[in-house]
Amino acid sequence: MAEWIKVAALADCPVGQLKSVPAGGEQLVLANVDGNVYALLDRCSHEEYPLSDGDLEDTDLVCMYHGARFDVRTGKNKALPAIRPVRSFPVEIREGDVYVEV
Ligand code: FES
Repeated sequence: MAEWIKVAALADCPVGQLKSVPAGGEQLVLANVDGNVYALLDRCSHEEYPLSDGDLEDTDLVCMYHGARFDVRTGKNKALPAIRPVRSFPVEIREGDVYVEV
């Protein structure tokens, strides 16, 4: 059953940055795009390396290992070598903290 978990303080997720956090037995990557925070599974759908090692370019997360791109808002794969999306999770900001539904 899904539940909301507090994963970070918003102050620890600067705009334009990625942050890896544990949540519900998974590792997630948070991405702050212009103050909106998104959460994806921190595992590339290509070879399962951590997406949090990559870079955030606007709404694209670029995997540093082989250059796959994902839309952080949806997890949709946008560039090879990834041919599958990455799971995304709902995010809410409550009183300065980031909550993810996992
Ligand atoms: S592991 Fe991400 S592109 Fe290969």
